[in-house]
Amino acid sequence: MEQQTQFSGAEPRELYLPEMATITEVRRLTDLETLYTVELPGGRELGHKPGQFVEVSLYGIGEAPFSISSSPTRRGSFELGVRRVGQLTEVLAGYVPGRKIGIRGPFGNGIDVSKFTGKDVLIIAGGIGLVPMRSMINYVLDRRDEFGRLIICYGSRSDSELLFPDELAAWEKDPRVEYHVTVDRGTEGWTGRTGVITTLLPGLALDLPNTVACICGPPVMYRFVVMALRGRGLPDQNVYMSLERRMKCGVGKCGHCQINHTYVCQDGPVYNLPDIAKLREAL
Ligand SMILES: Cc1cc2nc3c(=O)[nH]c(=O)nc-3n(C[C@H](O)[C@H](O)[C@H](O)COP(=O)(O)OP(=O)(O)OC[C@H]3O[C@@H](n4cnc5c(N)ncnc54)[C@H](O)[C@@H]3O)c2cc1C
Ligand code: FES
Repeated sequence: MEQQTQFSGAEPRELYLPEMATITEVRRLTDLETLYTVELPGGRELGHKPGQFVEVSLYGIGEAPFSISSSPTRRGSFELGVRRVGQLTEVLAGYVPGRKIGIRGPFGNGIDVSKFTGKDVLIIAGGIGLVPMRSMINYVLDRRDEFGRLIICYGSRSDSELLFPDELAAWEKDPRVEYHVTVDRGTEGWTGRTGVITTLLPGLALDLPNTVACICGPPVMYRFVVMALRGRGLPDQNVYMSLERRMKCGVGKCGHCQINHTYVCQDGPVYNLPDIAKLREAL
């Protein structure tokens, strides 16, 4: 696997030194998830690719990795969609616009969009996996002429947990997007499709050699989505997926994210499926 530059921001800086950034907007997405708009000092661009992540630090609490949810085409600030699960995310949930947070990054091997240029882009996002995939979706939407079809398959446990409802409604109406959604269990009033995300895949008309898929979701989803895509005949080399692994340093030094020879924080989190298949055999 090709070793990526560890730090691909606009200018080289100390890898371990967080830069103090400002939260400029806080938007509650659901009871658990919040979207933060963050500005670096002087409005400096983060300089990220879709699929990359930053390390967020809160004074006296600690540091945690979060995917960048906004597209690099949307300039001046960036967005993080955070699920409240524990100590750091609980404290962050109380933050209001004006609060400072430490940012290191962008880190990781994001999506090489040049491999998607001219192709039909199939996004498969489960649950909070839509947070990083939204960066790629908006990248394609902002540079629409450079790509073929944009097919979005989104699955969630329940309709009450669907993220970014305004954007979902816009994609549904947008003739440039083929948007499909399903929920495991619909609440009363849900008139959409129910069933797991793989139920969306058999019905898709795909131009297989010209389609590139990007998957992000809970670990259990990957195996079944990959099986379904293979069943449709999509070549493995056309499939990319974002792996989440426990991380500390984010820059290939501590080994927390290591799987055999690969450091997910550096070589991933986005991998081409044949590289993951090799890893699984080796484990
Ligand atoms: C590359 C990458 C990108 C990520 N992007 C996002 C994102 O966009 N939005 C988001 O909400 N979260 C994301 N995460 C997960 C996020 O880093 C964790 O939720 C966060 O570290 C939890 O910190 P905490 O102090 O609130 O929870 P803790 O108190 O540390 O843990 C609370 C609970 O969450 C579990 N947990 C903690 N970290 C992880 C993890 N990495 N994977 C699975 N379970 C975990 C713990 O086992 C515990 O049960 C990402 C993780 C990685 C590695
Ligand atoms: S998180 Fe430290 S090596 Fe990857």
